[in-house]
Amino acid sequence: MDWTRKKLYSQYDKWSADYLLALQAQAAQSDFRPTYHIAPTSGLLNDPNGFSFFNNQWHLFYQSFPFGPVHGLKSWVHLVSDDLVTWHNLGTILNADTAYDSHGAYSGSAMVIEDRLFLMYTGNVRDKDWVRHPFQNGAYLDTDNHLTKLSLPLIKQPAHVTDHFRDPQVLKKDDTYYALLGAQDANTKQGKISIFKSNNLTTWEDLGYLNFTQQDMGYMIECPNLVTVNEKPVLIFCPQGLDKNIINSDNIYPNTYLIGDNCQLKNGEFHSTHNIELLDHGFDIYASQAFNAPDGNAYLVSWLGLPEIAYPTDSENWAHCMSVVKKLTIRNDKLYQEPVAAFKNYRKCHAELHGMLNEHQQIVITENATLSYELEISFLQNQQGTLSLLSSSNSKGLRLNFSTSNNAYFEIDRKDCGIPFATAYGTKRRVALEDNAPLKLHILIDHSTCEVFVNGGEFVFSQRIFPNDDDLQILLASESEVIYNGDWWKISNMT
Ligand code: FRU
Repeated sequence: MDWTRKKLYSQYDKWSADYLLALQAQAAQSDFRPTYHIAPTSGLLNDPNGFSFFNNQWHLFYQSFPFGPVHGLKSWVHLVSDDLVTWHNLGTILNADTAYDSHGAYSGSAMVIEDRLFLMYTGNVRDKDWVRHPFQNGAYLDTDNHLTKLSLPLIKQPAHVTDHFRDPQVLKKDDTYYALLGAQDANTKQGKISIFKSNNLTTWEDLGYLNFTQQDMGYMIECPNLVTVNEKPVLIFCPQGLDKNIINSDNIYPNTYLIGDNCQLKNGEFHSTHNIELLDHGFDIYASQAFNAPDGNAYLVSWLGLPEIAYPTDSENWAHCMSVVKKLTIRNDKLYQEPVAAFKNYRKCHAELHGMLNEHQQIVITENATLSYELEISFLQNQQGTLSLLSSSNSKGLRLNFSTSNNAYFEIDRKDCGIPFATAYGTKRRVALEDNAPLKLHILIDHSTCEVFVNGGEFVFSQRIFPNDDDLQILLASESEVIYNGDWWKISNMT
């Protein structure tokens, strides 16, 4: 399809029902369709939005363009879940159909207000000269999952920011509401986080920028998120154009976090003695959204995809998916992420894995691991080797290289795993580990997704992969003597 501006921004009712059904049928038949990750029924999915707990269910929305694998006119698709693992798709709920969101219902967040769920989102508007006018809008979802938009915007673009002003996160602290927004300063063209405050969710006062770092955050910050984890404020955000000396990431844009010591939104202060860190060390995480749930936990979900990168399923007219939901904790001043415990309820066909390899040996640990499984495996200290997933005698698969000796590291190499893509951004991602310590990996594979939680979630590597569907072995190759212990489970199909 030739994606002209007119096609990208046509109202949804201009597309034929038959065309949409054909796209949905094509996506449903894809070999790369995950079974326990949220994926679009057709077209493109990007940011998670409105992650919340309301009316006794978990709610999650995502940015959607259902008519092709491109960033066209965005709407919100609504999903609900009872356990944060199986999600039921309730369809498109927030359309771009008013004067204040005519060119896209962009990202935003949710907060329970009495018996309704308040949604705050960015209305993307372009005028006839294609100049962008961002509006921060509101809507309420009732307990019948019926949505009513507010007729007027809540926040208009202040003079001190450019038209890059979006992705409100609505928060409540001490009876006052706040909204954090991604912004670009009009004078310096630097990425900022804007703060607004309100007593009634209707009139909003501009408090300027959040003071959280002296470092230059590039030219734009998208999707800012403030969440409390083990009583500490944690700021999660996506800086664009960040200097590699601040965060050394090979991804086109990183998703980062900063643990704070305290945060006073009313003064715009986020005080921290920590460094800004990468939220995920894999190839494909962006726009993560976290919230503090009534069960006392902080949960995070991410877009398992990146802007401006072509993916192999583009040719099948669907693109991207969501990560699994991760529970956040802080241990030893580090942010840990682990898949939610309810995953354990979906385990089937257990196999115990343990053994020993001598130096320079290779064994098949599992002959047919399927394309939808969970693997927990640990290695002792002073060992070096490679665990290859989705491999066969003809294919090296997805290689997880490790050393638990001196200069310990963990590395993922996706160069020889199925269809190559985004290779201009490198094919390896690596972290240094504590020397001479054991290594524990918790791996989730789901057709075209791979999420690796290293050492209980101290580091996470999340990525898309597009393997051959007959490369189903798990292989282990040793450089030194290697002793391994683990468990494999098939994950049952939940969709
Ligand atoms: C991040 C983002 C947001 C924006 C949304 C539009 O991926 O660019 O800043 O609200 O996507 O879909």
